[in-house]
Amino acid sequence: MPENKNNPDIEVSHGANGIDSTILANLAKEYGTPLLVMSENRLIDNYQRLESAFKKNYGNIAIKYAIKANSNPAIIRTLSGLGAGMDASSVPEIEIALGAGVDRNRIMFSPNYASRSELEFALNAGLVINFDDIGQFRMLSDIGVPDCVSFRLNPGFGKGEFPGITLSGPESKFGIPTSHILEAYKAAKDSGVKRFGMHMMCGSNVLDAEYFAIITSKILDSAGALKSKLGITPEFIDIGGGFGVPYKPEEKPLDIQKTAELVSREFKEKSEKYGLGGLQLMMEPGRYIVADTTVLLGTVNYIKEYEKMFIGTDIGMNLLLRPALYGAYHDISVITKPGAKASITADVVGEVCENTDAIARNRMLPRVSAGDIISVANSGAYVYGMSSQYNGRPRPAEVMVKSDGNTVLIRRRETTKDLLSTTVI
Ligand code: LLP
Repeated sequence: MPENKNNPDIEVSHGANGIDSTILANLAKEYGTPLLVMSENRLIDNYQRLESAFKKNYGNIAIKYAIKANSNPAIIRTLSGLGAGMDASSVPEIEIALGAGVDRNRIMFSPNYASRSELEFALNAGLVINFDDIGQFRMLSDIGVPDCVSFRLNPGFGKGEFPGITLSGPESKFGIPTSHILEAYKAAKDSGVKRFGMHMMCGSNVLDAEYFAIITSKILDSAGALKSKLGITPEFIDIGGGFGVPYKPEEKPLDIQKTAELVSREFKEKSEKYGLGGLQLMMEPGRYIVADTTVLLGTVNYIKEYEKMFIGTDIGMNLLLRPALYGAYHDISVITKPGAKASITADVVGEVCENTDAIARNRMLPRVSAGDIISVANSGAYVYGMSSQYNGRPRPAEVMVKSDGNTVLIRRRETTKDLLSTTVI
């Protein structure tokens, strides 16, 4: 049984994906580094744990995987096969989902500050759209009225691991404040919309079960007002994503059973109180499903040691941006030194010409040498998708270790030719 960080019953591994380090070292040899290695077993396990926790407590649920966390079609195909719907934030993400065989009635579109052409695409595709504002709905008024309309509520507060991933509150660009949400629904109703939902997404990587019940309660209060003031009964309430995973050794996994219990209890109590029978509980998790499915393998190129030690690797901010952007922590292990104790403190850096180019600062590690292979945990969410080709670095390959034990290439490594493929000489 692979260790699983999200499951409190299984030994904590700080986000490693359970694939044996000998297998990882062999994959690094075979495919080269940097390399992303995903465990399909872990992907299935994460999805099913989340689904069963909620299903146990509330029958009528829908999980829409947030494609932005990791848009590789192999992942989308596996999740779709398990019954997941998809949440897309852009037209290309819609196209990726459709291309991976996801039925259009299981794709939801949650854009913000979208162009008219993107909204029109979603309207014509017949998708449910989570509009970020009433003006976004009005942008379609001369084209048509969506069959089912949902607006994104900004409940006035939010919570995320970092300020950059706190997605609601007075300073946040997302959603409609509670004080104006009914105006949006009234306008949509007056335009002839018949079916409704309500949406929110308050922040990402939250490890506190109680918090999800608090925001659920908040959105149901707005749904209750929708019923009492406008006579609208929404068909679904989408509480967004945000379910966290532990990155730091001292962090405890989110108790997903407790989260599901507390959210469902709040959902049932408030929907009864407001006479909102038959509501579907919808959610759009990304990170919880994919973060710890994948490790990022890199090679130590060179070590510089004066007053401070720098371990130079082929993984930089071009590939793993989160530490430079948010100060995020990712666990690092040296897979070619199994069992070695941490004896040095160093910054682990990449090859990019920026001083923010570090994937770990002042990290305790075993003493490493050039040629050692490192493994960076929790690299399944917001890693490949946020990477760039900065400094002329092609993006890495991705492989998936399938549930039958076979390894398949799910994205080839880019080449210099790929870097130039869009240029015109
Ligand atoms: N739904 C919407 C509308 C979202 O904006 C997001 C994430 C999700 C769902 C999925 O959230 P999750 O379950 O993954 O927390 N780049 C950042 C994370 C930004 C999250 C943005 N929105 C990071 O690397 O931590």
